Amino acid sequence: MDFLGPLKPRGGGPGAGGRDGAGDPNDPRRLRRNPLVWIAVIGAIILYTQYEGGGLPGTQDEAPRRIDQITDVGGPFELTDHNGRTVTPETFRGDYMLVYFGYTWCPDVCPVDVLVMGQAIKMLGEVGEQVQPLFVTVDPARDTVNSLAKFATNFHPRLLALTGSEAQIAAAAEAYEVYYGKGEEGESADDYPVDHTDYMYLMDPDGTFLEVFPHGMRPAEIAHSIGQHL
Ligand code: NI
Repeated sequence: MDFLGPLKPRGGGPGAGGRDGAGDPNDPRRLRRNPLVWIAVIGAIILYTQYEGGGLPGTQDEAPRRIDQITDVGGPFELTDHNGRTVTPETFRGDYMLVYFGYTWCPDVCPVDVLVMGQAIKMLGEVGEQVQPLFVTVDPARDTVNSLAKFATNFHPRLLALTGSEAQIAAAAEAYEVYYGKGEEGESADDYPVDHTDYMYLMDPDGTFLEVFPHGMRPAEIAHSIGQHL
């Protein structure tokens, strides 16, 4: 997540220590000539464009908020779980919700995150039973109730995988400020990636936002953070 890393000031670049004596180090012309500046700028652009969830064609026009600016996501949704049952936030009133948006065809990030979600809840033991893990697809065209049923049982016995119409998914994603967008099709029309925000959201038993966990956190870290709310 530290995609601004390369822009951090570094010591010891060319001219550090002033040995070459080529004038004022703050001279802007000198800065433009410095290859490290260009390497940092190009690196930042590459990192930003590859960052999953960054600047994607999503459900909203505004730029995504940084993770530390996410303080109040959540809201109404109406979706169908992998048993074919209609669910809304009210369905889970009284339980903490741990919500993740992704898609089952995701080659790497989603399966890992959902596995981590299940492991974190298992690590909490008995108190973890207050937490309802929810997987919301951002790819309802391929993630049907039946395919989600097969997917869900691989990760946690209580995981509910949710789908809906395009409009229902868009509304849920908007409530959680989740960005997603279909990538280019490969060899067939049903072969495409979906870029999406890969955060996990912890909501309290009233459905209000508590905390967000980025991709890359270990199950023990997430379990520890959740445990402090239970
Ligand atoms: Ni994914």
